[in-house]
Amino acid sequence: MLSVLVCVSGGGTNLQALIDGVESGLIRETKIVRVISNNKNAYALTRARKHGIEGVCVSPGDFPDRETFHQAFLRSVEEAAPDLIVLAGFLVVIPEQIIHKYRNRILNIHPSLIPSFCGKGCYGLKVHEKALERGVRITGATVHFVDEGTDTGPILLQKAVEVRQGDTPETLQRRVMEEAEWTLLPRAVDLFARGMITVKDGRAEIAGPEMMKQ
Ligand code: GAR
Repeated sequence: MLSVLVCVSGGGTNLQALIDGVESGLIRETKIVRVISNNKNAYALTRARKHGIEGVCVSPGDFPDRETFHQAFLRSVEEAAPDLIVLAGFLVVIPEQIIHKYRNRILNIHPSLIPSFCGKGCYGLKVHEKALERGVRITGATVHFVDEGTDTGPILLQKAVEVRQGDTPETLQRRVMEEAEWTLLPRAVDLFARGMITVKDGRAEIAGPEMMKQ
């Protein structure tokens, strides 16, 4: 059984997709053991608790400096002893110590086709604002492993989504979630749980038959 820790900052619709995936059996052999939020008012924490999952808040604002926050965050991660960490709309930079310790065991979902519209300062609604400003016809979402950079780790899954005339950042965000994010992230966790993923030379590979389902 794969133990998963999910880190969130906001509404938690991606967390909900994971919870639903585990409950429906779409994600196999997996248990969500803890949800950590940096924001005590995040609705994601309520979603966790409604499903009997422990939800805790570890917020930088509650600590005198970044170092003490990082130590508390690390403690909370280690208490949960996860096999996999999923960043599902987590808007805080992960301490390097955790990246080293959980190399190729941290997944992030980003609401664009990386390497477009990603990197420092490019998250949430801002991603969709930039896509509309640039006038792209196709955008999408990416699930990737987390490395020391921002959105630079090995890409695991991507799905394209059409941009429509008259889209606002909000309508585009919703379509990207509905058509890409909420299916990609559960699929990524299921693949991980079933040992279908290997990472070699900075590239993620999916075992043969599963790759065909892309
Ligand atoms: C999602 O669109 C996710 O892709 C994005 O934040 C949103 C969280 O929504 N993440 C990033 O931008 C990370 N760079 P949710 O709380 O409803 O899942």
